[in-house]
Amino acid sequence: MENTILSNSHAVSADPAPPYFSIQDVHAYYGESYIVQGVSLDIRQGEILALLGRNGAGKSSTLRTIARLDKPQMREGEIWLDGQPIHRMRSFEAARAGIQLVPEDRRIIAGLTVEENLTLAKVAPGDGWSLERIYESFPRLAERRRQEGVTLSGGEQQMLAIARALARDLKLLLLDEPYEGLAPVIVQEIERILHSIKSLGITTIIVEQNAVAALKLADRAVILDTGEVAFTGTAKEVLDNAELRHEYLAI
Ligand SMILES: Nc1ncnc2c1ncn2[C@@H]1O[C@H](COP(=O)(O)OP(=O)(O)OP(=O)(O)O)[C@@H](O)[C@H]1O
Ligand SMILES: [Mg+2]
Repeated sequence: MENTILSNSHAVSADPAPPYFSIQDVHAYYGESYIVQGVSLDIRQGEILALLGRNGAGKSSTLRTIARLDKPQMREGEIWLDGQPIHRMRSFEAARAGIQLVPEDRRIIAGLTVEENLTLAKVAPGDGWSLERIYESFPRLAERRRQEGVTLSGGEQQMLAIARALARDLKLLLLDEPYEGLAPVIVQEIERILHSIKSLGITTIIVEQNAVAALKLADRAVILDTGEVAFTGTAKEVLDNAELRHEYLAI
């Protein structure tokens, strides 16, 4: 009993564990255009964070900065994943460290089959999910494994893009508008996939115009407004706050 009390009081006084993923005061530019203006956020392992805001708020730019793409150019700030300094990395190194971006245009490679798109995604043979495991979770992709990737329907292409991230070492999944242009029934199918990814302990940031769908899935939310964080809190707080939704999300 005494021990329990001691260890409890110790836990309270000790520093909280650092977040699994965090970005701290990140500033990024396209040329001289100042776009990401001091964004900070953090996520615990296995959480889903909805990154929301109006058109042009800087959501895609923030995801691109996290994935360490050349544009926008990050000039200040820090990005940490599981104790690793991502801000010092190039995009291929960030991908090796487990950060996988599924961009809005999905980037399926033309001239390659579904299976070739998946195989090519692997940085090293031991990385990520095997083809067998992917096909078990994505039966639609299994049926179409010999089909050229770019001839898939929009929903199937989105599944392929997510599967490709799973074929790599995946610690942080960055999704840019995964539901865009998809019928509600396909959105539901992708939601189920994202739930099962979460249950594996994979951490996700989802950017979505369909804020309600993203908030339904997410644990927490960050709202951007002209490149700055306007709100950080739980997904429920956003859903329950009509003023906030009206001001920043037009819902
Ligand atoms: N390559 C680029 N060069 C210059 N400016 C850019 C570039 N890409 C984006 N921007 C500008 O950066 C700002 C943020 O764009 P971003 O794409 O990050 O917004 P977003 O929140 O993703 O918007 P949306 O909801 O429309 O996708 C916008 O003003 C946009 O015009
Ligand atoms: Mg965008």
